[in-house]
Amino acid sequence: MIVVIGATGHIGAELISILSREGVAAIAVTRDERRTPFLPGIQWMTADLAEPASTERVLRGVRDLFLLTPNGENLADLQIGAIRAARGAGVERIVKLSALGASDHSQSPIGRAHYQAETELLNSGLKWTILRPHVFMQNLLEQAPTIVKEGRIYAASGDGKIPFVDTRDIAAVAAATLTKPGHDGRKYVLTGPEPLSYADVARILSEVVGRPVEYVALSLDEARGRMMQAGAPLSTIEGMIALAAYQRAGGPTALVHDTVERILGRPPRSFAEFAKDHRRIFQGPPQ
Ligand SMILES: NC(=O)c1ccc[n+]([C@@H]2O[C@H](COP(=O)([O-])OP(=O)(O)OC[C@H]3O[C@@H](n4cnc5c(N)ncnc54)[C@H](OP(=O)(O)O)[C@@H]3O)[C@@H](O)[C@H]2O)c1
Repeated sequence: MIVVIGATGHIGAELISILSREGVAAIAVTRDERRTPFLPGIQWMTADLAEPASTERVLRGVRDLFLLTPNGENLADLQIGAIRAARGAGVERIVKLSALGASDHSQSPIGRAHYQAETELLNSGLKWTILRPHVFMQNLLEQAPTIVKEGRIYAASGDGKIPFVDTRDIAAVAAATLTKPGHDGRKYVLTGPEPLSYADVARILSEVVGRPVEYVALSLDEARGRMMQAGAPLSTIEGMIALAAYQRAGGPTALVHDTVERILGRPPRSFAEFAKDHRRIFQGPPQ
């Protein structure tokens, strides 16, 4: 039995759909049972990683755990708690969703928090696989209302090139690592097929929506100000600014890795494919 934590999010929702289609039984975890679509072979359970008793309850008798939590001050605490609870419950293997550049000397609190959780997992004595994806294509969906209203996307990454990855491909890799042999003790960096600047992203979106979409290159200070105005938590702001600074500098953040293709036996989705699949959202309602 596989437990999926993060099952209502971008990656987790796609992961449980894949497991369901492949006939793999799984327990999908949410804190809010009102958000639970019916999927054959998927059993929903409620748990909150902030409440150890509920975490232990969903992990009892389980062999494999997919562990994902959102960015936030408590990312490392929640994940370390889940790893300890899993070991206590007799779980054998954890596939952990981490992030590109997770390290103890990352300028981003998100990168440092993931590294802390990775270290706990590596020292846990459990079997493990770590997935370190690059920037999600799906992040652009958050800008869809602005793209519709203003014909603009805003980012602070300068001309930096980023091989954005589709969360559907991350989920497919997660499913493969959970259900097929040969992935224990591996750290996988997951990228899309091509490094793109936000100017490239704007050009592709313009072609797909049939209207001009312009890239507005923000300075780091402008980006910080906008996030503060939107009420984002300070750790998120610090993390996003650090990541944008890495992307502006280029180098490792622009590198394409062939991991998705090696594991899935097919190329990762391109940004153009992602944009076409979400065309209606980026176009907005008919005028
Ligand atoms: N965005 C990027 O470009 C990017 C790049 C690399 C790595 N990442 C990493 O990707 C992860 C986010 O993935 P995502 O976008 O798929 O997530 P998401 O869509 O934000 O979903 C978060 C999931 O976590 C669950 N969750 C939240 N708090 C929980 C708690 N206390 N106990 C149990 N479950 C909890 C939520 O479930 P309920 O609300 O239903 O309870 C939801 O299913 C983060 O760790 C981030 O660092 C992101």
